[in-house]
Amino acid sequence: MRVPLELNQQTVAKALAEALAEVNAADSFAQLKALKSTLVGESSTLSKLNALIKDLPADQKAEAGKLVGSARAELNAVFTRRESELEAIALDQQLEAEKVDMTAAPVSIRQGARHPLSLLMDQISDVFVGMGWEIADGPELENEWFNFDALNFHPDHPARAMQDTFFVSPVENHLLLRTHTSPVQVRSILERELPLYVLCPGRVFRTDELDATHTPVFHQVEGIAVDKGLTMADLKGTLEHFARVMFGPEAKIRLRPSFFPFTEPSAELDVWHAAAKGGPRWVEWGGCGMVNPNVLLAAGIDPEVYSGFAFGMGIERTLMFRNGVRDMHDMVEADVRFSAQFGSVI
Ligand code: PHE
Repeated sequence: MRVPLELNQQTVAKALAEALAEVNAADSFAQLKALKSTLVGESSTLSKLNALIKDLPADQKAEAGKLVGSARAELNAVFTRRESELEAIALDQQLEAEKVDMTAAPVSIRQGARHPLSLLMDQISDVFVGMGWEIADGPELENEWFNFDALNFHPDHPARAMQDTFFVSPVENHLLLRTHTSPVQVRSILERELPLYVLCPGRVFRTDELDATHTPVFHQVEGIAVDKGLTMADLKGTLEHFARVMFGPEAKIRLRPSFFPFTEPSAELDVWHAAAKGGPRWVEWGGCGMVNPNVLLAAGIDPEVYSGFAFGMGIERTLMFRNGVRDMHDMVEADVRFSAQFGSVI
């Protein structure tokens, strides 16, 4: 049981001394604020002693009132003084913490830039979207069947050899990293309704060492159109438009007979690069041709009714001769100083 409070000089002096000790011990504004109700509020010892006055005989009330009143006044004064001292300290600390040195050199944050290969692929996609083509995507980890068989590559075509192609073990699974974007030709004609006009920019892989003109991971863009009555003239017209957007109104193209298993006839595509560094010249740009009837047949399309054309070119190579990039290393090192030269297009 708690001993009932008694009101006398000792109890008042003791209550005051204890409260003052606590006020002086508080060393932060926050701590002092938290003490307010227990030290000076209704539940404080001095307030409780004050409440006892009313029960005293009438002749003792005045003296007791003075005793408790002066103790409370002293405590209040000390409390208020300490409160403003600690508040000032807290404010100083806050100002110190939030100090801004207006003379400090600014931290310069270098702005990033999109890689020119991404920019170029977007730009190429825009050209074809402008002609009503769709953009497609295909897996980089591809079935050997899509990468070679369905494209009419003979089982012992040299391109299937391990030294050119990254096969993924176990080899019996017939999975590889696609060596070109042409498997998207097959995927497109299997998956889409005819007629189709599809462009696929993407990453491809070959077992080349990285040097000034080779990299084992690079990019191609593949185009395929299948419709009734398409001819080489449609292929040529499409590529001519593409070349003019990429290389300027003076650009023209030239097709040289060539061979790809999945096109017949096939051609190498050259572009007349009028603004080339070192003067205008023909530059090898890619491959193209009319989709081989065997490829259409493999996808269940009647080559008597439909015909198609396809083309493919390297993005790195395009960037090299279009923008005068001389070393492949610049493209793979991801140095923002290289990318920034092509502008900070979002
Ligand atoms: N896939 C061929 C290559 O990688 C390019 C090509 C695409 C040729 C489409 C003809 C038609 O070399």
